[in-house]
Amino acid sequence: MSNGRPTKAVIPAAGLGTRFLPATKATPKEMLPVVDKPAIQYVVEEAVQAGLTDVLMVTGRNKGSLEDHFDRNVELELALEKKGDPDRLASVRAATDLADIHYVRQGDPRGLGHAVLVAAQHVGDEPFAVLLGDDLIDERDVLLARMLQVQDQRGGSVVALMEVPQHQIHLYGCAAAASTDEPDVMAVSGLVEKPSADEAPSNLAVIGRYVLSPAVFDVLRETAPGRGGEIQLTDALQTLAAMSPENGGGVSGVVFRGRRYDTGDRADYLKAVVRIASDRDDLGPDFVQWLGEFVAEQQGNQGTS
Ligand code: UTP
Repeated sequence: MSNGRPTKAVIPAAGLGTRFLPATKATPKEMLPVVDKPAIQYVVEEAVQAGLTDVLMVTGRNKGSLEDHFDRNVELELALEKKGDPDRLASVRAATDLADIHYVRQGDPRGLGHAVLVAAQHVGDEPFAVLLGDDLIDERDVLLARMLQVQDQRGGSVVALMEVPQHQIHLYGCAAAASTDEPDVMAVSGLVEKPSADEAPSNLAVIGRYVLSPAVFDVLRETAPGRGGEIQLTDALQTLAAMSPENGGGVSGVVFRGRRYDTGDRADYLKAVVRIASDRDDLGPDFVQWLGEFVAEQQGNQGTS
């Protein structure tokens, strides 16, 4: 089994996005704009930033807009050139020049584990990263680079963990984990998908970044559908956690304390748009001022009602 440093990123984007219907009826949720870029472009930029320039997108129905976004649009480029609009031209070309992007089709959305399994042939026998296309990590907060470092040092697979309030743990995969000699690294002994608050082994939620041993593919082939009738990546990770390191087993967790947005969730999506717009040099100053006035007005209205 190769122990080389990962070069490939897999981005599953074939889910049904039911929490965001009807917007996701004809568009993948990963294509919803966060200010002026689709969510998935931030995720590809993050992979590239961490040195992973070979990107495989797992697509489903409605994949057209996704592929078009990362493809050239010669007509549009010509029109912008003719108009003399170099900034917008550069922004249109940026998505195309970003990475070496490949696509594979997940016929039926049979779960995140199944989406990862369809990447097996492209990935081959080397560790690789998985970035969920609807999960945004603020670019000022480092996560993936640290996970790659931990995988390099400890081998096996690495998950990203985030402390969440106990009443929210049922929305996530949850890790049973013990501390290590590094404050941000945990040794993961078990994982359970969307447990109830009483059953949850901790308040550590698994969020959408993984660095996986290629051993995950054989495990996924043997993983039966779990919660919701879907092949769960969490179940495969649970098996990997119990396997010996010689067979590619072992799971570590990197605890993330930065800013993260689940753009597949409507409320979190709105927060992501507001935060990212507020921090932008071009939009932020005016937007934040308006936001302050808007909030004051809302509070005033509440006070008088
Ligand atoms: P989610 O569970 O958030 O996606 O999967 P979903 O099923 O589309 O969401 P809702 O609950 O119906 O709104 C996490 C990630 O895994 C991908 C999704 O596209 C998302 O990026 N995924 C999920 C797949 O690629 N294939 C699947 O079969 C399931």
